[in-house]
Amino acid sequence: MTDAELLARADAIAERAYAPYSKFQVGAAVLTRDGRVIEGVNVENAAYPLGTCAERTALSRAVTEGYAPGQLEAIAITASPCGGCRQWLHEFGLDRVIFRGADGEVVTRTPAELLPESFEL
Ligand code: THU
Repeated sequence: MTDAELLARADAIAERAYAPYSKFQVGAAVLTRDGRVIEGVNVENAAYPLGTCAERTALSRAVTEGYAPGQLEAIAITASPCGGCRQWLHEFGLDRVIFRGADGEVVTRTPAELLPESFEL
């Protein structure tokens, strides 16, 4: 699974997003270290702050499937991750985060690059 293929999985799943309020559909695809791909989409709610981002859906699904921080290799996202999701990405110890930047260019960063001096317990 190449990074381009992982981003293609994120692109494809984005159409399942539930985003009736923003109309901004986001897809994410996590690559586990044992080779599985787990996807997620953003899920909005009429009470706006209760909506969740695609990255957090994918990471929550991975945890539900039995994966823990350190067991996930990479995540691809169809948009630049928001600040809150950057904290989540940092928590999971991913090697790299691949996403489409503001101009549509493909960007690859480490979680630490996306969130320097992050909060940790
Ligand atoms: N969104 C994500 O799914 N991931 C991000 O990192 C950026 C924002 C979603 C949340 C909301 O449903 C929509 O994009 C507009 O903010």
